Amino acid sequence: MKFFVDTADVNEIRDLASTGLVDGVTTNPSLIAKSGRNFIEVIQEICELVDGPVSAEVAATDYEIMLEEGKKLAGLAPNVTIKVPLTPDGLKTCKALSDDGRKVNVTLCFSAGQAILAAKAGAAYISPFVGRLDDISSDGMSLIDDICAIYANYPEINTEVLVASIRSPNHVVEAAKMGADVCTLPPTVLRQLFTHPLTSAGLAAFLSDWAETGQQILDP
Ligand code: E4P
Repeated sequence: MKFFVDTADVNEIRDLASTGLVDGVTTNPSLIAKSGRNFIEVIQEICELVDGPVSAEVAATDYEIMLEEGKKLAGLAPNVTIKVPLTPDGLKTCKALSDDGRKVNVTLCFSAGQAILAAKAGAAYISPFVGRLDDISSDGMSLIDDICAIYANYPEINTEVLVASIRSPNHVVEAAKMGADVCTLPPTVLRQLFTHPLTSAGLAAFLSDWAETGQQILDP
């Protein structure tokens, strides 16, 4: 399973990318607004920090302008993935850009039917938002299960299931069990994945016992 980080905070991305565990980045207009920075500059900086796909989202809602915005974003760096919303115009843009050899991430997916449409439009990624479904008392992870099962029925579908709106490590584990291709993680959730109280307690005991031996592994 691939891990993307879901942030426009360049410092967070630099720090997390140093772990070697980050395969890509997703941003959205809200994350760009939160960064308080210029969209184009932020995307260019992220693309220099991470070799993998970096999703940059169009801001227009009508096909012609979306297409122009998508082409401009794609020109920023070879690893830009153009993100479009799951609307009729968004899918039309997805089809045109995909036919042109560009990678498109279709975002704001909340149903299996929408995921089928995105695959037909040639999307490289479909982004179902599990946390936002959970927020309205629906079951986000059952949508992932449905999409993975449907896509598996059609070997010609190359669209990767990118689990988005993740709120906890449990979402990641469930997504992995279902065979989802990618999870995009808020930095806090990626850090949570590393931690377990028994790891911390066990390490503290090992360090204490090791200190009592008075030994060193490396020569002083
Ligand atoms: C995905 O690409 C989106 O940016 C993101 O996962 C949305 O998450 P949220 O529901 O926490 O805003």
